[in-house]
Amino acid sequence: MNVVRMTIRRRILFVFILIALAGGVAQFLIAGRQLELATLEFYQHHLETDALLVAATFAEPLGHYLEGEDGESVGNTLSRLQQDVGHNYLIVDRNLRVIGYTANTGYEQVDRVAETPELVAARSARIGADVRPDQLGQDTLYLAVTVVYEDDFLGYLVLSESMQPAYNEVTQRYLGLASVTVPVLALVIVASLWISGTIAQPLSHLHASALRMAKGELDTRIAVTSQDEVGQLAEAFNYMAGQIDALMKTQRSFVSNAAHELRTPLMTLKLRAEALADESLSPDDNARYLKEIRQEVDHMAGLVSSLLMLARIDEGRHRPDGVVSDPVSMLHDIMRHWRIEAEAKGVRFEAEIDAALPDLPMSPNDLRLVLDNLLGNAVKYTPSGSIQVRVSHAVDGFTLTVRDTGIGFAAGQDAHLFERFYRSEQVRGQFSGNGLGLSVVKAILDHYGASITTHSDGPGTGATFTVRLNPAPVAR
Ligand SMILES: Nc1ncnc2c1ncn2[C@@H]1O[C@H](COP(=O)(O)OP(=O)(O)OP(=O)(O)O)[C@@H](O)[C@H]1O
Ligand SMILES: [Mg+2]
Repeated sequence: MNVVRMTIRRRILFVFILIALAGGVAQFLIAGRQLELATLEFYQHHLETDALLVAATFAEPLGHYLEGEDGESVGNTLSRLQQDVGHNYLIVDRNLRVIGYTANTGYEQVDRVAETPELVAARSARIGADVRPDQLGQDTLYLAVTVVYEDDFLGYLVLSESMQPAYNEVTQRYLGLASVTVPVLALVIVASLWISGTIAQPLSHLHASALRMAKGELDTRIAVTSQDEVGQLAEAFNYMAGQIDALMKTQRSFVSNAAHELRTPLMTLKLRAEALADESLSPDDNARYLKEIRQEVDHMAGLVSSLLMLARIDEGRHRPDGVVSDPVSMLHDIMRHWRIEAEAKGVRFEAEIDAALPDLPMSPNDLRLVLDNLLGNAVKYTPSGSIQVRVSHAVDGFTLTVRDTGIGFAAGQDAHLFERFYRSEQVRGQFSGNGLGLSVVKAILDHYGASITTHSDGPGTGATFTVRLNPAPVAR
């Protein structure tokens, strides 16, 4: 199917101008026609009054004339009336015999006149009118009125007058109408140009900006110049652009961080493997290098499994399996392991677990991952002192608290601890790690609609991590 490409701007202009033109022209024609009719009617009415007046004035002299009393008075009266009132006149008796006329009446100089339409009409209605060209071809109005004297029907008076003054008046009326209609039309066209511009221009900016973004210019933004729907669209675009920009930066730094984290252990592995190739190596060195290789491999395996876990959650492929149906024994099991680790470092370990915990709506693997990360951190970042774990349950859900007396962290760092690859200044170089454990914990808990918060009073004062899980969260 052929799609006609018509821009919004052209569509608005086309519709507005079409409506304005159609409305304007129709109004011009209707109003003009009415003005024209009214003007002509007024002209005719005005002449009718004159004709009736002249006929009334003329009745008596005509009566006398017809009785043969005064032969001169008809001609005198006619010329006097033409001087006073204007117009041309013709007088005929009831048999249409010409009695007298002024010049240019449009009648030929005959004894009897033909029965013209105005005379026919006047016979029945006392007054009749007809417009037709005169001898010179100019439109002329002929008005015939009956002349009655002392109840005697004597004949007709025909008044004739050029239509030109009326036509001039009509032209003036049309010009007056046009002088209003044309500016209004021009105003509508200017307004439609303006409206279409205000809509179409930001949209074409948006279009150009979207194309620029698609080409990789992620810092593209649009100037928001209004608060209307178009302005809101521009704001939404800027917000989207900002989000994409931030996401792309996060993705890029994530990839470069991951590559960086993998490169260091790979280099160590390479060096140790090369060292092992040396046949003169003592058995002690040999065993040490092998141990280091194992440690690096463990480290890399941990890093890769954290990355895979995050990728799985990011892509929505993480599918939790089942719930923890006997949380108390599972929690004690995990605590036993971390107690041994803590006590091996000389750190006291206390765990307080509610004896009557209901089923925990979380997959056992996920619960183990969360606890291993939190307790692993507590043990790692607590050189001496104690670690306290508390798991409780109330109507508003489960609460898990891990409190240690370790290195703590500075105020304002708590929000960063859950960022991928984030490691505080304090720990870098001193403690091993990738900075991924807490982001895995956060991603898993987000998946269950659970929350995690942390607090420290400052470096050296220990840290507390608190997890809250709703009673029956819906796994997404
Ligand atoms: N118990 C804690 N006390 C003080 N700081 C902590 C504690 N737990 C985490 N942190 C801080 O948060 C950062 C991020 O922790 P996270 O577990 O994500 O990474 P990591 O422990 O450094 O490495 P890994 O990926 O091996 O877990 C740590 O580097 C550390 O600076
Ligand atoms: Mg950790």
